[in-house]
Amino acid sequence: MSNEAKLELDGKSYTLPTLTGSEHEKAVDVSALRANTGYITIDDGYGNTGSCVSNITFIDGDKGILRYRGIPIEELAEKSNFIETAYLIIYGTLPTRAQLKVFSDQLTDHQFLHEDMKYHFQGFPTGAHPMAILSSMINAASCFDEGLMNWKWGKNQQFDTYVAKLTSQVRTIAAYSYRKSKGLPLIYPKQDYKYTANFLHMMFSMPYEDFELKPEVVKALDLIFLLHADHEQNCSTSTVRMVASSQANLFASCAAGVCALWGPLHGGANQAVLEMLDEIHRSGDDGSKFITAAKDKNSGKKLMGFGHRVYKNHDPRAKIIKVACDEVLSKLHITDPLLDIAKKLEEAALKDPYFVERKLYPNVDFYSGIIMRAIGIPVEMFTVIFAIGRMPGWIANYKEIMEEPKSRIYRPRQIYTGKTMNHYLPIEQRK
Ligand code: CMC
Repeated sequence: MSNEAKLELDGKSYTLPTLTGSEHEKAVDVSALRANTGYITIDDGYGNTGSCVSNITFIDGDKGILRYRGIPIEELAEKSNFIETAYLIIYGTLPTRAQLKVFSDQLTDHQFLHEDMKYHFQGFPTGAHPMAILSSMINAASCFDEGLMNWKWGKNQQFDTYVAKLTSQVRTIAAYSYRKSKGLPLIYPKQDYKYTANFLHMMFSMPYEDFELKPEVVKALDLIFLLHADHEQNCSTSTVRMVASSQANLFASCAAGVCALWGPLHGGANQAVLEMLDEIHRSGDDGSKFITAAKDKNSGKKLMGFGHRVYKNHDPRAKIIKVACDEVLSKLHITDPLLDIAKKLEEAALKDPYFVERKLYPNVDFYSGIIMRAIGIPVEMFTVIFAIGRMPGWIANYKEIMEEPKSRIYRPRQIYTGKTMNHYLPIEQRK
């Protein structure tokens, strides 16, 4: 069987090379199509376009499979933790005990921000959205490191330091963003706290009293970070790769990823889910009116937390998080009317032909918001939590671009549909 594709175009026939991934996914390579035929391919929303080859994450959306570096998400969720998984995603293998210690020590060494960054935080108004602060401050942090500003891939060996710095500082910046948005005093990280516990400490401790760290809360948040750690070429990761392809620095590339993540169709969905559940609850609806509205294209409503570009069977992260959600709520003895509404919505949607025919299932954001609410994370921080979790994935994708010797700047083409040749009209002749 030939592994070339045949194309008939304008009466001529062309052959196009194909390639096959390690999980047997197949692609037709159209890189030389325009040079050979004058045609480009067009693919609205990139639904059928592979923008790169990558070794990091494998997803089979039809079967509901997600693996980081080959390891199923279910195994990692059960046996690993966020920092070990972050190492796996960034460096490609599970760390030895010694490697993990070095990585953890580096995270601790780099967790403090430059003191002058405090003045930047002060410049934001109280009430500013923490995602805006997070993106700006990740970019600003690069200005406090001359080495990073002038750094070029391959010219020095600093990359591991910058990886540790960004992984660690995104958490410090995220917590400070929240404190600033509420007008609260900033709380420094503690040397002896682990990653996720330290984040909760910086979020919720007060100068006069440390926040009580409940193990089940720390565990649930760590799981949320882990489940978000990478997801191949989604909107924010593609943005990071796009910016990285211009050889922008690591912090600038990942700050762009934060902006892409913010939107309600991507990472912002977890906040949107909670707002939707709250709206349903306050209106006295049991969810059925909302489901009807979500099916009506003119209503402007969608069932937030449902549907996915890639998963057309189930989102494996949603399955894990639903179980964790029940567990945390029962351990903390919390009953949440919004959880009841979420369960009713899920049950109704999974039976409804509109959702079934379109293969719309709950995604990771459907239940993550409820857990975060249960453990006391304010709703405006939900997408920030997603950003902290996604950082290893962004870093690994950045690294992959830099390590590829043939990497080129990302520069898609377009089909122009505007005016043809036109001329400048002096202002007095314009109507
Ligand atoms: N509620 C109601 N209808 C929907 C929904 C929804 N949540 N999602 C998709 N549809 C409909 C859509 O209107 C379209 O209908 P039709 O074929 O009649 O025109 C059909 O289903 C196919 O949808 P699509 O918009 O072509 O799907 P997409 O792949 O472009 O979008 C999505 C994927 C996730 C943006 C979309 O499903 C959505 O907006 N979901 C709600 C937002 C959300 O939960 N986002 C988080 C995604 S998971 C976290 C992450 O990885 O970012």
